[in-house]
Amino acid sequence: MTLTSAGSLTGQSFQAFLEELHRKYQPLTDGAIANYIPELAKADPDCFGICVVTKDGHVYEVGNTQTLFTIQSISKVFVYGMALQDHGRDYLLTRVGVEPTGDAFNAIILDEQSKRPYNPMVNAGAIAVTSLIKGTGPTERLNRMLDMFRDFIGHDIFVDVSVFMSERTTGHRNRAMAHLMRNFGMIDDRIDEALDLYFQQCSVTVDCRDLAVMAATIANHGINPITHTQALDSGYIRDLLSVMYTCGMYNFAGQWSHEVGLPAKSGVSGGIMVVVPNQFGLAVFSPPLDARGNSVRGIEVCKEISNHYGLHLFDSSMNCTRFVQQLGTKPHGIDGNSNGDGKGIGTLSD
Ligand code: DON
Repeated sequence: MTLTSAGSLTGQSFQAFLEELHRKYQPLTDGAIANYIPELAKADPDCFGICVVTKDGHVYEVGNTQTLFTIQSISKVFVYGMALQDHGRDYLLTRVGVEPTGDAFNAIILDEQSKRPYNPMVNAGAIAVTSLIKGTGPTERLNRMLDMFRDFIGHDIFVDVSVFMSERTTGHRNRAMAHLMRNFGMIDDRIDEALDLYFQQCSVTVDCRDLAVMAATIANHGINPITHTQALDSGYIRDLLSVMYTCGMYNFAGQWSHEVGLPAKSGVSGGIMVVVPNQFGLAVFSPPLDARGNSVRGIEVCKEISNHYGLHLFDSSMNCTRFVQQLGTKPHGIDGNSNGDGKGIGTLSD
């Protein structure tokens, strides 16, 4: 397949590029759907969506971009932002580190000396972070979290109760980690409450387009490019991007940063969210996962987009700094159309 040249980037050529990528990778059937949370095993392996939302709110999408799935570990990025806002960077660092582990996302490990979980992107760190969310009780904490997700996405969101119950009844490793952290004073006595909130945040439903808007909000300094709501203090965006870059893809994080070179976060339901700082957000949804828990089609799509447009943050051509400028501020040559036919280009308000 010959992909369109990056030399003459327009909205139309970018949309065509995404459509070619979708055609190229739809037949890739490697990987397996996560089944350790029984409800996740029901996902459709053929479901495949790609969406890009630019910092000025333009949407490029192809495939199943409006199929709902649970956000899973991608939620960790946003709840970390919320905890930073609640407590500040210095306090957060006493409860969770920023060091990649090289281990699986559910490894039962803490830093030998400090007893902190290594980083907020692995399960142990995420549970510690979630336990810090402020509120007078479980309902207020959950509502604050849902409000935060709403600001990032731009519409109300819901928790998939079946997935929540499925995680809650089978999450023995997470429960073990929470008790280990309680033993070392890293979380307080409300262990079950913290776990419930963590299972709820993982069970928030989104679609591929929502994820791209969330990524674009991070790319746009915490301001949702569609609603213009400030979803997170811009001062904490660097914290999110740093841990995404070093820890967001688990034990694939090193290879990912070498090959793709962009901050990202994946989840076991098959989503990958990528941020091109100050340019755009990218999301891919495809449930079959590789051995490390990352979407197989998602990884390939992200590699191709990054390489084709020179988006690696340390690429000397630095195309990423002028991507949106080249793309132009208006969709070119295609009627504004984001009506879910999988071939849309336009803004969310079209
Ligand atoms: O804690 C769990 O196992 C899930 N709720 C989230 C895991 C996840 O998405 C890890 N990602 N690759």
